[in-house]
Amino acid sequence: MLPGIRIIATGGCLPEKVVTNDDLSKIVDTSDEWITKRTGIHERRRCVTETHLDLAAAAARQALERAGIDRAQLGVCLVTTVAGDTITPSTACMLQKVLDLPEDAACFDLNAACAGFPYGLRVTEGLLTEDRPYGLIVSCEVLTRLTDYTDRSTCVLFGDGAGAVVVQQSPDAPEICAVLGSRGDNQALYIDGAPGAGAPYIHMQGQPVFRFAVDAMPRCSLAVLEKAGVTMDRVDWVVMHQANERIIDHVIRKMELPPEKVYKNIARYGNMSSACIPVALNELYEAGRLRSGMKVLCVGFGGGLTWGGCLIEIGGIS
Ligand code: UT7
Repeated sequence: MLPGIRIIATGGCLPEKVVTNDDLSKIVDTSDEWITKRTGIHERRRCVTETHLDLAAAAARQALERAGIDRAQLGVCLVTTVAGDTITPSTACMLQKVLDLPEDAACFDLNAACAGFPYGLRVTEGLLTEDRPYGLIVSCEVLTRLTDYTDRSTCVLFGDGAGAVVVQQSPDAPEICAVLGSRGDNQALYIDGAPGAGAPYIHMQGQPVFRFAVDAMPRCSLAVLEKAGVTMDRVDWVVMHQANERIIDHVIRKMELPPEKVYKNIARYGNMSSACIPVALNELYEAGRLRSGMKVLCVGFGGGLTWGGCLIEIGGIS
């Protein structure tokens, strides 16, 4: 059996500027009532002065300081994102510079859209070695750069933020039993990329994505539990991608999950793509609700279309 990984520290960073539903109702034809009822979102954060690298570096610094590790033992610095400051260099390469990480650590960005964090954990698990047992995973998104503020059907949903974790490979850590997948679809949810293809905005057909989500999230979660040979009563937290509170509640009902085990913060941050899950983990840590030995089911879905889930243990946090 391969050695698994545990999360030994978390970090996070959110831009200061808060954008409320009422703020948005002044620029598009929407209302606090519509947004709250259809999505559960009350407010989100927006970068004004902060860059993508600023957010990623702050979240990473916090996680590394809390982990208290020797950075020379870091084997991987992986950033999950769809929205870096530059296509190249990657944000991960710039983190190598600003955080003074070892030059022989693998540094790269990974784009699996909102499912990026479970993808990032699984890739990191595969890359760590006995002599380089630590990995840094930072999920950072500045989606407001890619948001069309004339399109009320998307602009109310997205926000900016970063979450980070330090993981440690260990022979006694269980494999994370990740389940990752994709179904190529360039219509339901996409961001233009090629030069000349138009403004790089998020385009989404809400209802097909909603239907995909309420099918993919329970399917992926159950597959992770089956692979791990673990039943829900042994899971301490379920942290899902925060795209719509109605999607989360649908999954709770479909899987008959105990609601008190399901963490939600969508009301305060909206959809921060791959950053949602680690920002939630960091909030749990800061509230003293994440302790060593706990098992967390992380599950996300997003553009691609992608899905990803895993069951990861917490270690080194008392
Ligand atoms: O992380 C990426 C994954 N993304 C998602 O998971 C998103 C999944 N989809 C959703 O969360 C929902 O589909 C939305 C929140 C995007 C939309 O909610 P909905 O209940 O599916 O609304 P709808 O698209 O069916 O639109 C209903 C009505 C329409 O008006 P008519 O045609 O009924 O007159 C829309 O034009 O609501 C209108 N509408 C709005 N009204 C006020 C759409 N956006 C807004 C708005 N404010 N912001």
